[in-house]
Amino acid sequence: MGSRISARIGAISESATLAVDAKAKALKAAGRPVIGFGAGEPDFPTPDYIVEAAVEAARDPKNHRYSPAGGLPELKQAIAVKTKRDSGYEIEAAQVLVTNGGKHAVYNAFATLLDPGDEVLLPAPYWTTYPETIRLAGGVPVEVLADESQNYSVTVEQLEAARTSRTKALLICSPSNPTGAVDSPETLEAIGRWALEHDLWVITDEIYEHLTYGDARSTSIPVVVPELADKTVVLNGVAKTYAMTGWRVGWMIAPVDVIKAATNLQSHQTSNVCNVAQRAALAAVSGDLSAVEEMKKAFDRRRRTMVRMLNDMPGVECPEPTGAFYAYPSVKGVLGREIAGRTPTTSSELADLILDEVEVAVVPGEAFGAPGYLRLSYALGDDDLAEGLSRIAKLLG
Ligand SMILES: Cc1ncc(COP(=O)(O)O)c(C=O)c1O
Repeated sequence: MGSRISARIGAISESATLAVDAKAKALKAAGRPVIGFGAGEPDFPTPDYIVEAAVEAARDPKNHRYSPAGGLPELKQAIAVKTKRDSGYEIEAAQVLVTNGGKHAVYNAFATLLDPGDEVLLPAPYWTTYPETIRLAGGVPVEVLADESQNYSVTVEQLEAARTSRTKALLICSPSNPTGAVDSPETLEAIGRWALEHDLWVITDEIYEHLTYGDARSTSIPVVVPELADKTVVLNGVAKTYAMTGWRVGWMIAPVDVIKAATNLQSHQTSNVCNVAQRAALAAVSGDLSAVEEMKKAFDRRRRTMVRMLNDMPGVECPEPTGAFYAYPSVKGVLGREIAGRTPTTSSELADLILDEVEVAVVPGEAFGAPGYLRLSYALGDDDLAEGLSRIAKLLG
C-alpha cells in the first residue's frame, strides 16, 4: 500500500513565514501585546476608486458568469499598456495570462517550463515559495548565495559557477523579497547577456517594481537585453503596488506559445480569476500611480528608522535596503551570546527568543535559504515599528 499523501505533495514544507505569523496571531488572540514584523503586505486599504470599480462590477450580471480562462481581454490589454508605461517592456495582450495572484503566476511559470530534473538557478536569500514551486514542477532549485557583503546581489561569476548542462532557467527577484535589494541595470544587463549566451530562460519577478527608494530604480531585464524577450517570463501583480493582497490578481508575461500552454493548464485548474477582482485590477492598472507614491513616502520614512535602529544594535548589521518593504539584517554577531538566560545559536532560535521574551515577531533567515539573518517588514505603523525595534534593542542590549 502506498502512503496516504503523495511523495510530491508530502515533500512540501510548511511556509515558515506563515508559521511565524500564526504563532504571533495566536499570542495576540490570547491578549498579548505582540508586534509583528512578519507581514508581507502593505498596511493601507485599497484605494477607493479601485474598490468602487469592484462594487460596480459586482452589480453587473455580465461579471456573474464564466469569462475566458486566461483573463478578461480588456485587462490583458491594459496590462500590456501598463507594462510599457512602467518598465518600458513592449508586449502584446496575447503575451499575458491573468492569474490568481502573483503566487499563482510563479507556480504556472515553473509548471509550464520545467521537465523533471531541469535545474533552476535560484539566488539566495530567496522568497520561500520559489524552491517549493520549482520542486512541485519536477525541477531542481540550485541555490546561489549572495550575502550582505555583496549587497545581496548575485554576480555572473557566481551563476556561471553553478550552471550545468541541466540548467534551464534563472530566477531574478528585484526589488527582492526578502532582502529589499535592487539589482542595478548594469548587473541585470550582464546577467541577461550571460543567460542569452547559454540559452537559459529568465523568470523575473517584478511584483515590487514600484517600491524603490532613494536613487534605486527597478529594471526589467528584457528591456536592457531585448534579444532575451523570447526566453523571458515576467511575473507581476496588483498586490503590493495597490495594497490589494487579498484581491488575488497577478499575471505572467511570456512568449505567445508559453502563454497558450499556461492558459491550457489554467483552464483545467482554476478557470478565470474572479471577474470582480479582475475589474478592480483593471481600474488599478489603468489609473495613475499616485496611491503607491503616497504609500512609498510612509515606507521610506519607516525604512530609514528601521535601518538606523537595527544598525545601532550590537552584533546586528543591516545593509540599506532600497526596495520592497523588508530589511534583512545579519544577526551572526548576536548568535552564541547569552540573552535572557538562553544562548541562541541559530537565527531561528533567536527569532523564537525574541517572540517569547519581548513579544515581537520576526522571520528567521532559515525561511529564505540563508540562516544567520532575520527578515523584518516595515509595512506596519510608525509607532508599532519604533516600539517593536526598541524592545529588540533592549533585549539584545
Ligand atoms: C517576491 C514575491 N513574488 C510574488 C508574490 C505574490 O504575491 P501575490 O500572490 O499576493 O500576488 C509575493 C508575495 O509575498 C512576493 O513577495
